[in-house]
Amino acid sequence: MPSHDERLPLFAITAPGLEPLAAAELRALGMDVKEEPGGVSWSGTRAQLYDANLRLRTASRVTVLAAEFRARTFFELERHARKVPWERWVSRGGAVRLRVTSKKSKLYHEGAIAQRILEAIEHRVGALASTDVGRDEEGGEDEGDAQLFIVRFNRDGCTIRADASGALLHLRGYRQALARAPLRETLAAAMLLGAGWDGTAPLVDPMCGSGTIPIEGALLARRIAPGLSAPDREPRDYAFTSWPDFDVERWAAVVDRAAAEILPRSPVPILGSDRDEGAIAAATANAERAGVLGDVAFSARAVSAVEPPAGPGWMVINPPYGVRVGERDPLRNLYAALGRTLRERCPGWTLALLSPDHGLERQVGFALDEALRTSNGGIPVRLVVGQVPDEG
Ligand SMILES: C[S@@+](CC[C@H](N)C(=O)[O-])C[C@H]1O[C@@H](n2cnc3c(N)ncnc32)[C@H](O)[C@@H]1O
Repeated sequence: MPSHDERLPLFAITAPGLEPLAAAELRALGMDVKEEPGGVSWSGTRAQLYDANLRLRTASRVTVLAAEFRARTFFELERHARKVPWERWVSRGGAVRLRVTSKKSKLYHEGAIAQRILEAIEHRVGALASTDVGRDEEGGEDEGDAQLFIVRFNRDGCTIRADASGALLHLRGYRQALARAPLRETLAAAMLLGAGWDGTAPLVDPMCGSGTIPIEGALLARRIAPGLSAPDREPRDYAFTSWPDFDVERWAAVVDRAAAEILPRSPVPILGSDRDEGAIAAATANAERAGVLGDVAFSARAVSAVEPPAGPGWMVINPPYGVRVGERDPLRNLYAALGRTLRERCPGWTLALLSPDHGLERQVGFALDEALRTSNGGIPVRLVVGQVPDEG
């Protein structure tokens, strides 16, 4: 059994563009991390692995590097795969999911690679109850409790990562009621952190849909770890709690420490509004499920009727994109009207907007700088941030 202070090669996977934010989150937790394309790597203890899963707001999963080797033949792959300590993550009779991708490599048949790896796992741990094989595609959702391994071949180099998270980390558990075009919780948190909002100034989202931005804001302001976003503040499920070497006491200590930091109320006003009554009903139900209904004031109203609290504060908005034909002109008007309302009612506030294109964001009528680039539901987007000027 490995020692509890053993350092593990950890990697937090993020959506493209969110690496610096996840790295900053981990550094704030005292971890010495390195940004890489697609995520953040560090050498961390088991307590850090637990902490990262519980607290990271902007990462999709946290993984442990199980093996890294080169293989140009199936014989080499089998030889390396049999040396991987699979028993650290899977027990005899367990269930396994493999997500395999191969690029620019001699071994290109992903199904055949998966088959060799499954054989190596069974060779070490004994027969598995069930297996599932597929490609590692961004946005792939989770099925069941099977232990996931992410296998990537690139130019004959192979990395195998054991997923420690289970369900993707954006699935905090609170968001069951959806409005149109909901934002991933991880991206909503990334907008807040990328805009420089730290939970100590007022926050308004006047196009809040199902409420993701104000709810993530309330979690941040109250220092509620995303893994504790159920109203009873019990942690959600993670894959690592089923690993044979799971350290239940260490996990309890990590959870207790995070729970002790929670503030009873948001120290600042947080407002969410939308002109669609159905969206506000969904947002209210979601905030209740996250146990932050008392921290967010929701109301059904158009952007033009927004009533910001005493500021200055942050307006963080995920406006409609209008990817369909015929939606462009009304949207230009909407962005222009948003700019006018902000200049009239919120001078000195910071505006952060998830923007699908320069043309639309220019309609807002004042300078906005790019804070990050990522994609939302497959659409390339930029987070742009600027200060609302004084009218006149
Ligand atoms: C992309 S969605 C926001 C999704 C939201 N971030 C979420 O996670 O569910 C854009 C929202 O803007 C709202 N909206 C569009 N025009 C509006 C207006 N003039 N005033 C207020 N809300 C508006 C829509 O009803 C929709 O809910």
